[in-house]
Amino acid sequence: MAAGSRQAALEAEGLVKRYPDAGALRTVLDRVSLRLEPGETVAVTGPSGSGKSTLLHLLAGLETPDGGTVRLLGQDLAGLGEAARSRLRRRHVGFVHQFFHLLPTLTVEENVRLPLELDGVDAGRARRRARALLAAVGLAARAGDFPEQLSGGEQQRVAIARALAPHPAVVLADEPTGNLDPAAAAGVLDLLEAAVREHGAALVLVTHSAEAAARAGRVLALRGGRLVEAP
Ligand SMILES: Nc1ncnc2c1ncn2[C@@H]1O[C@H](COP(=O)(O)OP(=O)(O)O)[C@@H](O)[C@H]1O
Ligand SMILES: [Mg+2]
Repeated sequence: MAAGSRQAALEAEGLVKRYPDAGALRTVLDRVSLRLEPGETVAVTGPSGSGKSTLLHLLAGLETPDGGTVRLLGQDLAGLGEAARSRLRRRHVGFVHQFFHLLPTLTVEENVRLPLELDGVDAGRARRRARALLAAVGLAARAGDFPEQLSGGEQQRVAIARALAPHPAVVLADEPTGNLDPAAAAGVLDLLEAAVREHGAALVLVTHSAEAAARAGRVLALRGGRLVEAP
C-alpha cells in the first residue's frame, strides 16, 4: 500500500470470466474493475444473465477469474491457498444469497452461530453474538425455530444476521430483496445499511430494484460484460 493512501476494503482489477457456451467460450465479465473504501456502498444492476452473481462470486473468492485480480483488505486472493482463502472469506466477507441458503436442520440461532464456531470463536461468545444479532433483526423470539417455520422476509433477516456475525469488512449481497415484499425489502436494506454505518463495512448490493439502488452511494451497471456508471 502506498504511504498516505487508505487501504481499500475491496479492490478488483481487470476481472475476466469466461464460461463454456455451445462449444465455445463466452466472456461474461470483460475487464471489470471496482474499488470500495470502508463504509462505502455500491449498487450493481444489470439484466438477468449479465454476470452480477458471477462478479460477487469472484469478489468473494468463491470462483477464480480467468484474468485480473481481487484484493481483499490488501490481500491478493490468487496468492492464497484454498484454506487461507476460505479463512479470509469466513472472517471478512459476509455473503447474502438471493435464496437465503440457511441450513434447514439447524435452528435459527445455530445458523447465525455457525460462521463464528467454524472460525473457532468459543461457544458462549458465539451464542451472545448470535442472540444480539437476532434481537437487532427483530427475531429474538424465533431463535429456536427452524428456517422453514419462518417467512421469506424473516429467513432473509436471519441470513443477514449470519452474514454480519463476524463483523465482516465486506458485505456482498446478491439480490437480497428479490424475493421479498416491499415492507420486508425495506427492512432488509435498513439492516445492511446499519452494518455499513456502524461497522464501516463496504457493501456491494446487487439489485434489480430502483429503490434499493437509489439508496446506494454509487450505482454501476453490467452491460456486455463491462461495469459502467449507471445513467
Ligand atoms: N458455472 C457456470 N457455468 C457456465 N455458465 C455459467 C456459470 N455461471 C454462470 N454462467 C453463465 O454466465 C452468465 C451470467 O450469469 P450470472 O452471473 O448468474 O448472471 P446474473 O446474476 O446477472 O443473472 C449467464 O449466461 C450464465 O448462464
Ligand atoms: Mg444472479
